[in-house]
Order: sequence, then C-alpha cells, then structure tokens
Amino acid sequence: TAAPPRLTVIGTGYLGATHAVCMASLGFEVLGVDVDADKIAKLASGQVPFFEPGLPELLAKTLESGRLRFTTSYAEAAEFGDVHFICVGTPQMPGSDACDISYVDAAVGALAPHLTRRALVVGKSTVPVGTAARLTHTVRELAPAGEEVELAWNPEFLREGYAVDDTLRPDRLVFGVASEWARERLTAAFRPVIDAGTPVVVTDLATAELVKVAANSFLATKISYINAMAEVCEATGADVSDLAAALAHDDRIGGRFLQPGLGFGGGCLPKDIRAFAHRAEEIGVGQAVSFLREVDAINRRRRSRTVDLVRELLGGRLDGKRIACLGAAFKPNSDDIRDAPALDVARTMHGLGAYVRVYDPAALDNARRAYPELRYGSSALDVARDADVVVLLTEWAEFRQIDPEAMAKVTAHRRIVDGRHALDPEVWRAAGWEYRALGRSWPDDRRGGH
Ligand code: UDX
Repeated sequence: TAAPPRLTVIGTGYLGATHAVCMASLGFEVLGVDVDADKIAKLASGQVPFFEPGLPELLAKTLESGRLRFTTSYAEAAEFGDVHFICVGTPQMPGSDACDISYVDAAVGALAPHLTRRALVVGKSTVPVGTAARLTHTVRELAPAGEEVELAWNPEFLREGYAVDDTLRPDRLVFGVASEWARERLTAAFRPVIDAGTPVVVTDLATAELVKVAANSFLATKISYINAMAEVCEATGADVSDLAAALAHDDRIGGRFLQPGLGFGGGCLPKDIRAFAHRAEEIGVGQAVSFLREVDAINRRRRSRTVDLVRELLGGRLDGKRIACLGAAFKPNSDDIRDAPALDVARTMHGLGAYVRVYDPAALDNARRAYPELRYGSSALDVARDADVVVLLTEWAEFRQIDPEAMAKVTAHRRIVDGRHALDPEVWRAAGWEYRALGRSWPDDRRGGH
C-alpha cells in the first residue's frame, strides 16, 4: 500500500495546534502553518499558547520525534503536504449573528496558488452550509494543478479540556467527500484512528458541514431545555435538580448536557446556534430552526436571573455590596473566557454598583486583560473576605471542596448563590448559610407561606 500521506495543518489555534500534535503523535509527518509568526515560534519551541491538559507533554514528545514542524510559509506547506487541513477560526461577526469565514477564505486563497500537484484540502472549521461547495470552485480556479486538487470536509467535535482525547479517540469521524479518491485519502490520513475502532460516516460536503452545527444545536437545546424547566420550577416551588435526575433515568433522554444552571458559553455553542439560525434564514428555511432563537434567549435569561437571585438575597440592592465571584472561565478545566456566563454576570453586577471580586483557578490572566475594571483575587477565600454574598459561577472541582465553616470565617454574611448547582444545599444550610440556586426552592423562605 501507499506511504501514509504527509499532512499540513493550517491555522494553529486551539483546534489546529491540537490536531497537528495529535496527528504527529500517531506517526504522521506534520507541518503546522500559521500567519502568526509569534505563535509559530512559541509552538516550535514547545510552548502551547493556551490551557489544555496533556497537550504540552504531547507537543514536547512530537517535536522531539522530528515528525512535527512549524512554518509561516504557504509555499513550503504546499510543497510538503499531500493532505492539507484547514483549521482556522470562524468567530461571530461583530454586530451580526453570522459567522466570519474570512479566515477560511484567506487560508484557502493563500494555499491554493501553490498547489502544483495532486492534493486534498480538508476543511475542519465550523462553517455555514454551502461553504465547501463554494471553496471547491475557488481551489480549482486558483491551483495550478486545477482539477487535481480536491476539497473535502471533516468537521471537528473536540471539547476544550478533553481536546487530546477527543482528537485521538473521537466518537465518530465524518468525511464529507465528492469522490472516491478523496474518501481514500481521508481514510489514509486517519488510518490509526479508524483502526482503533472509530466509526466513520462518509457523506457529501453539505451534510458534513451540517453535522457539526446540528450536533452543537442539539447540545445547546438540551441545556436550554432543562434551564427552561428551571424557570417553571422556580414559579412552582419545584426542584429542577431532582427533575433533571429523574429525567436522566430515561435512557432515551440521558443525563449528559442536562445540568441546569447558568447555561452555556464558550467559543462554540453560542456562536454556532446563532450562525446556524442566520444561515437557515439566508437559504429560506429559517422557520425550521427558529427554535434556536428561543434556545439562545433562554440561555441569556439564566444570566440575568442569576443577578436577580443575588439582588434578592441582598434585600433588593446591589450597589455598594461586596460580592465574591467564584469562577471566570466559561466552564471548568479551561482558561477560555469567550462568551463566559461567569464574567457576564460579574460585569453586570459591577455595572450595577457592586464591589465585585473574581477568582478563577486558570482564567484569571485572561479575565484581567479583558476586563480590567473588575477586581481579582488569588483564591476563593481571598475574594470572599468581607463579602456580603458569595456567587459560584463556574463549577471548578476546588469550589465543590470549599468548607462552608472556613468560608464563613472570612465573609461578612453567610449568603451564597450557587449558579452551577455545584454545592450540596443541605451541607451549606446546615452550616447556617442562606443558599440559593436557579430552579431550586429554598424551604427556609417558604416556611411563612407564599
Ligand atoms: C462544545 C461541544 O461540546 C464540542 O463538541 C464542540 O466541538 C465545541 O463546542 P466546548 O465549547 O468545549 O465544546 O464546551 P462544552 O463542554 O460542550 O460546554 C459548553 C457550555 O455548556 C459550557 O459553558 C458548560 O458550562 C455548559 N453546559 C454544559 C451546561 O450549562 N450544562 C450542561 O449540562 C453541559
């Protein structure tokens, strides 16, 4: 059989850096490409420019093996590679729900003119459906090798914090291809992953693009579904935690992504559902996914409701109050603060005149840089000093371990809002704390009747 293809990975951000390192660790010759010389220099010297467990160790190993190299030159990439993975970002466009695919266009536009022999260009970025079909034409027009160059789509499903595992052992691989040759090339490029038993779905380009946004829309919908139930629970004195636990016993529903609380954030879910709704409207099927607007609205309401809970607990006012915020990252085990519900809540309370102090085990530097107007502290107990209320916003394991007695020694009052259902209300109430959580009743207040 033919030698394994040589791979390039264009765009060495979160997705690209992880993909490049993982593919090299599987034995492929890999060249990472980025226009950002700084990033390339960092990676080449063994530094991962973001927080991802396991990745720095694997980068060191693959660099040492000589199988992984980095460059800023597209000419070098074209010369080197048989299969080129496009891994650049597609952020939300400022002032619009659409996603910005200019980085994808730029990467393909820079690579294609150097493609002088048979090659496969594989998109991994999350894009509006129809992008791959358009890029197929671009590549053919720009590449000296013309029809010899093909385009395929292979969406990426990795989660931050589990990126290495999700890349080496994905739930499935999706190959969107337009020819048998492209299918064979992709199969060769994922040989070790396929041999390890990963199921492969081979389909057309449009379906492959859609799988990604359909999956993320489903996950977002599941979260907003349970959070919508939380709203109903609050109005009826019911408990959404118990409700979710009971639902989860039904295998058809399942308990994953059914955690009620402050809702979803991050660089993917919020932007992907908005871009999907926007794209569906563009192509005349807006009604089919109009529920995604509702999913987004439910998710946003969780943030304002959290602020309301804090205000209620403080007797109706936030101004001048000292508030300890535990968590800044959009989820635990990440330093990512993109569309982070935690910082959204912290900033709103700050805007309403509260004295807000934030602690996060990994995202403090990022938060400080983005929001210098907030105060920051070096530990949970540090920010809780003299606080009128403690608000848990990201469910880091270390917050679950906090001893309510130890915390009560530093705070001004025993009041806590658990925005992530991370704490045991019994334990905290037993220690004399007024405990509040979204979608949960608080029997101590209801004693007098409603
Ligand atoms: C997500 C998808 O899971 C991944 O497949 C895709 O490739 C990229 O987007 P990620 O953004 O890393 O990954 O985070 P994820 O772990 O999915 O969490 C998303 C958000 O949902 C977080 O803010 C999390 O706190 C929230 N969440 C998750 C809930 O509020 N409740 C849940 O039950 C699960």
